[in-house]
Amino acid sequence: MKLKLILPERKIQKKVASLARQIRRDFPQGELLLIGILKGAFIFLADLARHLSRPVEIDFVRLASYGAGQHTSGKIRLQKDLETPIKGKHVLIVEDIVDTGITLRYLCSRLRARKPRSLKIVTLLDKPSRRRVDLTPDYVGFKIPDQFVVGYGLDWAEAYRHLRGIYALQSAGDSN
Ligand code: IMP
Repeated sequence: MKLKLILPERKIQKKVASLARQIRRDFPQGELLLIGILKGAFIFLADLARHLSRPVEIDFVRLASYGAGQHTSGKIRLQKDLETPIKGKHVLIVEDIVDTGITLRYLCSRLRARKPRSLKIVTLLDKPSRRRVDLTPDYVGFKIPDQFVVGYGLDWAEAYRHLRGIYALQSAGDSN
């Protein structure tokens, strides 16, 4: 496998700071709960929380899709639930990448049933051309084409999460 840098660390950090500014404008005060989706969003959530420069609560969920591979199988279950009640709270889901949208659609419908005061989504990356369900994140860092990416928390078979930049994963024979 070959890695091709598509988003260097500096560009990601500038974008995270700008997403944080937008979110802070929309939620200037009051309680705000960030919900990170494990595992991929852990680095983005850590950077975003620090750039927000305001108090936030933090919790995590872990979702599993039946079957392995690079893409969501379509059937999702909640493998690790929240530890925090969300009723009446402003909630912001923090996701690394939206692909088909199936994972987030499932999570949003599970969380909406618990009656949060508001429910929004921030994603660092979005692959709109891959969408299979009607789902539009409220805050998007970068729109990217249909390619498999790793780094900055994102993995391929658990590898590459530690990289500071984001890379497209290419098979060795790929000349792009
Ligand atoms: P969706 O349900 O199809 O939107 O899938 C979203 C999830 O699939 C993300 O949270 C990632 O875990 C995974 N995923 C989708 N595309 C990529 C990618 O390019 N690299 C790494 N993980 C990805």
